[in-house]
Amino acid sequence: MKKALFFSMIILAIASCDTGEKTKPTVTEPIVTEPIVTEPIVTEPIVTEPIVTEPLKPTVTITDTSIQNSENPPKDFSELDAQARVFFGSLPQLAANSNNPITDEKVILGKTLYFDNILSKNQTQSCNTCHNLNTYGVDNKSFSEGNDGRFGERNTPTTLNAALHLSQFWDGREPDVEAQVGVPVLNPDEMAMASEEDVIDRLENSDLYIDLFEDAFPLDQTPISFANMQKAIAAFERKLITPSKFDAYMNGNNQALNEAEKEGLNTFIEAGCTTCHMGPLLGGSMYQKFGLHADYWEYTKSKKIDLGRFDVTGKEVDKYVFKVPSLRNISKTAPYFHDGSVESIHESVAIMAKVQVDKELTPEEIERIVLFMETLTGEVPTELRN
Ligand code: HEC
Ligand code: HEC
Repeated sequence: MKKALFFSMIILAIASCDTGEKTKPTVTEPIVTEPIVTEPIVTEPIVTEPIVTEPLKPTVTITDTSIQNSENPPKDFSELDAQARVFFGSLPQLAANSNNPITDEKVILGKTLYFDNILSKNQTQSCNTCHNLNTYGVDNKSFSEGNDGRFGERNTPTTLNAALHLSQFWDGREPDVEAQVGVPVLNPDEMAMASEEDVIDRLENSDLYIDLFEDAFPLDQTPISFANMQKAIAAFERKLITPSKFDAYMNGNNQALNEAEKEGLNTFIEAGCTTCHMGPLLGGSMYQKFGLHADYWEYTKSKKIDLGRFDVTGKEVDKYVFKVPSLRNISKTAPYFHDGSVESIHESVAIMAKVQVDKELTPEEIERIVLFMETLTGEVPTELRN
């Protein structure tokens, strides 16, 4: 190892003499890569991931032991750290869509529309009324009041990270955020616009939007269209990604989560939550029945029994099936479940354990899981929020 390093230094020295002016970049690069190359030769099994983390661990553990010693020996989380990276993952910077490339102009237009009451019948509501970006993309109500004072039958989910879900809505009835945008605008329970033409008329009467649509869709004959309105808002939503310290942890920083948070993570995995809440979103990647081991409404005390995806597909197997929600920012998006029937996050965890995995969690276990879930709280970049 030392020899190898020594030789590589010599090679570096020679290399730097040869390249003359461009020495600096060539010097820094090999120093980083060289020790990694030598590593596998010494220890055969450590070929895969641990290359980065392995050299750090022994030093950390040793110093910890010398400080804490007998009373509270430090826990070894290395197995958990590795396991977690298999189950989950870190968020991308944005949710790309090749059919709707994200441009700055589209995002500016989309953002303007997202916050503008112009898309609602009485001009009293915007997307942000229900999906408030200053409160994690929700309004924290069980049901949101629409433009005409009417209420829908489902809880408002967050727009944060939503573009990364396999589909949109609790029952997954729209394929992506582009398609989803059209629904609330025309929904009588929400923004209640009469027709696509009404929306276009409004926008065409606005000098601001004539300019913004031209900038965002410079190649289009008629830049202002319902489809382009959908694309622009969706492009904005595709940037509403909220990395948290959990992502730092996923990306290799084992210290990003503290001991208590890791214990919570461990409890979360051991309880079997990861069967459904997995991947970078801890959810959003599949449909599952709500109430595998008991009728959910017995526990949530829901007023209406919602058939979920059955209403979309008409198939018996889809009764009470919902999209598994993402747990990103979950501590901020109460009340919980598709009908906002449960206010407390602790209770929602207890219910999940009961009806999804048939387990009675202790209050301590629930508390640990809740603590872990708080590591999933991230921030929307300020420039997208106001
Ligand atoms: C009156 C409140 C209200 C308004 C206004 C509203 N929404 Fe929603 N939104 C909801 C509700 C309720 C749902 C869930 C409905 C369902 O699943 O059946 C939802 C679902 C969504 C979803 C799906 C998220 C997921 O996890 O599946 C997205 C994305 C979304 N809305 C974006 C928007 C956009 C963009 C606008 C503005 C054009 C908007 N909403 C306007 C209440 C609202
Ligand atoms: C078999 C799949 C499955 C398992 C296992 C599972 N969940 Fe869920 N989870 C779901 C589904 C589906 C929903 C949506 C239910 C609804 O509201 O319709 C959900 C909803 C939630 C919610 C509320 C989300 C929101 O936005 O309102 C939380 C919190 C949650 N789960 C946590 C957990 C925890 C903690 C565990 C482990 C004890 C767990 N889940 C196990 C499928 C699962």
